[in-house]
This record gives sequence, C-alpha cells and structure tokens, in this order.
Amino acid sequence: MEDVATLKIGDREETLPVVTGTENERAVDVSKLRSETGMITLDEGYVNTGAVASSITYLDGEQGILRYRGYPIEEVAANCDFIETSYLLIYGELPTAEQLENFRHSLRRHTLLHEDMRSFYNGFPRDAHPMAILSSVVSALSTFYQDSLNPGDPEQVEISIQRLMAKLPTIAAFSYKKSIGQPFHYPRNDLAYCENFLQMMFAVPTEPYEIDPDFVEALNLLLIVHADHEQNCSTSTVRMVGSSNANIFASIAAGIGALWGPLHGGANQACVEMLERILADGGDVDKYVDMAKDKDNPFRLMGFGHRVYKNHDPRAKLIRVTCDRLLEKMERNDPIFDIAKKLEEVALQDPYFIEKKLYPNVDFYSGVIYRAIGIPIQMFTVLFAMGRLPGWIAHWKEMHASPSKRICRPRQVYMGPTERQFVPLDQR
Ligand code: SDX
Repeated sequence: MEDVATLKIGDREETLPVVTGTENERAVDVSKLRSETGMITLDEGYVNTGAVASSITYLDGEQGILRYRGYPIEEVAANCDFIETSYLLIYGELPTAEQLENFRHSLRRHTLLHEDMRSFYNGFPRDAHPMAILSSVVSALSTFYQDSLNPGDPEQVEISIQRLMAKLPTIAAFSYKKSIGQPFHYPRNDLAYCENFLQMMFAVPTEPYEIDPDFVEALNLLLIVHADHEQNCSTSTVRMVGSSNANIFASIAAGIGALWGPLHGGANQACVEMLERILADGGDVDKYVDMAKDKDNPFRLMGFGHRVYKNHDPRAKLIRVTCDRLLEKMERNDPIFDIAKKLEEVALQDPYFIEKKLYPNVDFYSGVIYRAIGIPIQMFTVLFAMGRLPGWIAHWKEMHASPSKRICRPRQVYMGPTERQFVPLDQR
C-alpha cells in the first residue's frame, strides 16, 4: 500500500505521497500541493523542507553520522587523501588505482592560471579579504574558458571540473602571497595536492622550502572532513544558481560567497577571533558562556551549534584528535587550543547548551590546526572552500543529471499592503 499523508483543510482532505529514503528518512511530497489545494508551505530557513533527493552525502544529526557516498567519514579520513575523496564525491565510487592516477595526472595539468589572470591581483587592495578574491577570480575563470561553459556538454563539464579542482589552490595561494607582498610561487606538477598548496603558500624564491609531512597529513584531514555536507547553505546556493543553467564557474563563485558568512564557513575565522578575545580577556570562559546564553546579547559561541547535528559533529571529533596529535608532535602548546578545550568542557556541562543540543561543530577546532600549520586567520575560510569544492561540484552535477531538474524558484506568502491608490509627488 502506498505511503501517504493526509492533510485536512477545512472540510476537505487531501492525500499527499510520502517519500522514503534509503536510510528510512521520510518526507511528504508537496510538489502537487498548490495545484490540488491552492496552498503552499511556508518554512523560514528551510528548517523542515527538503529541497531535493540526493545520493551524495548522508547525515544523521541525532546519531552524529556523516557518510560520503555511503562510506563513514571516519573510514574515508583514515584511508583516503583529499583527491581520492574528491573523486568519490564527484564520480560516486571509490576509484581504481588507474582511475585515481589518471585523475591526479589530469588535475596536475591544470594547476596554472592564465598569465593574464595575475593582473586581477593588482586590482585588489592589499588588505582585501581572500574570500572576495577567491569568488572574483573563480567567476573570472569563465572569461578565460569560454569553450567549456555549457552545463549540458559532459566534456565541457569534465574539463571545467578539472580546471576548478586544480586551480583553486593556486588562486588561494596567490591571494595570500599578494596580501604579504611576496612573489607568487607557482604550482609544481611533481607534488601532490596538499604538498603543492603548502609550497605555493610558504615557499620563497630565495631559499628551499621543506614540506612538513605532519602538516600535509593534517591538511588532508581538514580538506576531507570539509568536502561535503549535503544541503548546507553554500551547497544549496550552488544548486540554486546552477539551476538557471548558469555556468559552473558562476555557480561555484556564488557558493564561495555564501560560505563566507560567519554563520557558515566564516565561523572558523570568527571562532579563533572569539578564542583570541577570550584569551586576551584573561581566559574567563564562564563569562563568554554566560554572554552566549543571554537572550539580550547577540554574542554566540562561534563554532558551536548546528542545524542538523544535535549530537557531536563527527568532524569536530576527528579534528580535535588531530589537533592533539599535531601540537604534541610539534611540542607546541597553543593557548587558543587550551581555551577551546576549556570552553567545550564548560559549555557541554551547561543546561542551556544541553537543552538546545549545542555541540562543537566542524569550525570549532579547525582554526587551531590551521594556526599550527601557519595558515593566517583570513585564509581559514578559503581552506574551507578548497575542501568543499568537490562537494559543490558533485551537487552541481547531480542537479544537472536529474531528469526532474527545474529552475529553483520558491513561492512566498505576501504580507505587504493590499492594492492602494497611487499618490502623485506633489500630493505627498
Ligand atoms: C557550518 O549546514 C551545514 O552543514 C553547515 C556546515 C557545513 O559543513 O556546511 O556544517 C558548516 O556552517 C557549521 C556552523 C558554523 N556556524 C557557527 O559555528 C556559528 C554559531 N552557530 C550558530 O549561529 C547556529 O548554531 C547555526 C547557524 C550553526 C545553526 O543555526 P540554526 O539551526 O538556525 O539554529 P538557531 O540559530 O535557531 O539556534 C537555535 C537556538 C537559538 O536559541 P532560541 O532562539 O531557540 O532561544 O540555539 C541558540 C540560538 O540562540 N544557539 C546558540 C548558538 N547556536 C544556536 N546560542 C549560543 N551560541 C551558539 N553558537
């Protein structure tokens, strides 16, 4: 018997189909609600609204589960590097050794930017936020690759995917070099993704640069745990923009803009700024926990809380273990990490946080690792974008492959003035 929901409107009863996912999540399909009842649903912030059926990433917020194409994040993080993880998300399966080598090889061939793109960096002020540079330069890629903008041409989509994956680290590293007035350091095709990014970021022409394998391991983990997270704000933005058949570069640039917000990907920068503020204020975490609980105070604990996770964010647990291990290996004590651990301990025992099910999220500890690697705070969200790129691409592809694809165009409930007589200027 078909699973249905019955909606009673006045003296009418409407039955609506119920969709059940592979993990037994259930949803009322309201795609015919307006045509059958004249009514729509209303759900500010889409708290209760599924935008799409997707096969890429599964989250269970109550259990603290995250799986990429069915594989638990803990296993992917333990067994893959970021490029292998990206292949899994984008193409749907773990690659064979040959597929993975071909993917790595194709990305290495596209790491350079067109030399004319370097002039973009001269146009930005020195203190330009690198997220502004990232979204601008990514959008501008569409002007240099006008041969590969058609979302309906698989070959053009594939070469654009390779260009995006390969060039984002170069664009990011160049924005950092610009901000510190150092010469741009070009990619090297003999290096793997994370090694290459670190040398583009930190190498200088005047002396050799030694790549730290611990930094590479930590960076791979951070990129892997950021790689996808189903219908989050920035991914939904990429889908929304892509649904108009805008090219993939424009869609990803829009996602970068959404991620920049401090309630989303910008939280990693905001979190470390908050921890630095607490440290400078004598380390009184109780004071800041009380501020976060005060309804009249807009202050929030950045890096805490999540729309979906009402249990531990599995990514935060993985990142915290790596924090401990990296700082121990470096024989380095970061007072910010100590503040973060103390803040977590106090908050998780506080009835307010327990009742509202607020736990550390992916952004709470990631900044500690970025600091240990030497990544400047303004680049934290840029690294989130580098990690999330394969997820954005996977969702953009899935959206275009959907037989039921339509332009995203939500409805609304109008609450403004009803019709009224126009008042000429000389009578106002
Ligand atoms: C990411 O969606 C994703 O998957 C995102 C992400 C991804 O991988 O793409 O996981 C990445 O964006 C993680 C979140 C990073 N943002 C932050 O750390 C910023 C601080 N957190 C919040 O602002 C908030 O928790 C959100 C934005 C993450 C979630 O917001 P919701 O789901 O809209 O929840 P809410 O704001 O309605 O909060 C529910 C209640 C509120 O209290 P009441 O109005 O019910 O009394 O909890 C309170 C909030 O005031 N609350 C907090 C809090 N977060 C929520 N109170 C204090 N400190 C906080 N951090």
